[in-house]
Amino acid sequence: MPAAPHVAVIGSGSIGVAFAVVFARAGFEVAVTDVDADALARGRSDLDVRLELLENAGMLGAPRGEVAARVRFGTDVARAVGGAELVQECAPEQKDVKRAVFREVAAAAPAHAVLASSASAILPSEIAIELPDDVAARVIVGHPGNPPYLLPVIEVVPTPRTSPDALGLARSLYAAAGLRPVTIRREVEGFVFNRLQGALLREAYCLVRDGVVDVDDIDEIVRSGLGRRWSVIGPFETSDLNTRGGIASHAVKMGPAYGRMGAERGQHDPWTPELVEEVEAQRRALLPLEAWEARGRWRDDQLLAHTALWEGAAATAR
Ligand SMILES: NC(=O)c1ccc[n+]([C@@H]2O[C@H](COP(=O)([O-])OP(=O)(O)OC[C@H]3O[C@@H](n4cnc5c(N)ncnc54)[C@H](O)[C@@H]3O)[C@@H](O)[C@H]2O)c1
Repeated sequence: MPAAPHVAVIGSGSIGVAFAVVFARAGFEVAVTDVDADALARGRSDLDVRLELLENAGMLGAPRGEVAARVRFGTDVARAVGGAELVQECAPEQKDVKRAVFREVAAAAPAHAVLASSASAILPSEIAIELPDDVAARVIVGHPGNPPYLLPVIEVVPTPRTSPDALGLARSLYAAAGLRPVTIRREVEGFVFNRLQGALLREAYCLVRDGVVDVDDIDEIVRSGLGRRWSVIGPFETSDLNTRGGIASHAVKMGPAYGRMGAERGQHDPWTPELVEEVEAQRRALLPLEAWEARGRWRDDQLLAHTALWEGAAATAR
């Protein structure tokens, strides 16, 4: 049997501990470090709490003690990263802090190790700016959803200097840990997860400011509407299935109204015919129009299967 991968997690705050849970659950050996001894102690007890939660839900795959024993905590960065295939930096969202961590890690990690930052918005090229090419070639952002032990998506963001080998290794290690890596082709602030979240949140703030709706009613529209649908299909598939004729037809019917709503907020990004054609081509490659009816039934089956769970959550939400 191949040896379990070694991972070092730098920073034992909420994301660091959550990554430790993900990697240890998958059988990896994990070394967690922090500059703050209190944070390390908190991290250790947080780890136990989260492992207990997953064990009680039958989502651990091994006894909790066995999984916990795969994680060691300490302050020695060189010791933690020595022998690591992947270093997952989970320090605070500050450029200078992350740059200092990467300098320290680069000096001690094996020459093939992927050096990943959990940054939510800082570009990986900004983090790697002072690093020589051979090190920068292994730098990426691996941005998780929170908490990553329950939300499996991870955005994998290379810099223009990242090598294809490092990108491939990062993707395969994340996949082996049970995560679902999505490669972001070009680094942009906030990557994609937070840009999508931000678009919705910006509009929500405007609607509250303009007296259109109350805060909890926005949340209700997402909880009982958009969110339920998005838990089985994304916004493009939603538009594709919402209109007979698929997303091209949706763009004809709804594009002008969405364009006006954007313009009201100062955003002028029309869905040009070329752009709609590109989106339509990608959707049709995934779902030929002949399969459209059946996919709509599949969506309804999925929503139905989740309904009892959602109604249970709604009943206990307050
Ligand atoms: N919290 C989220 O929802 C979320 C989601 C995705 C990504 N992220 C990103 O993950 C990173 C960590 O976020 P968090 O919420 O866990 O922060 P946090 O404040 O909970 O934890 C950060 C930890 O890093 C430690 N630390 C500070 N300087 C350090 C150093 N030089 N070396 C090692 N450890 C150091 C701190 O003591 C602390 O324990 C950030 O970049 C954040 O943007 C957060």
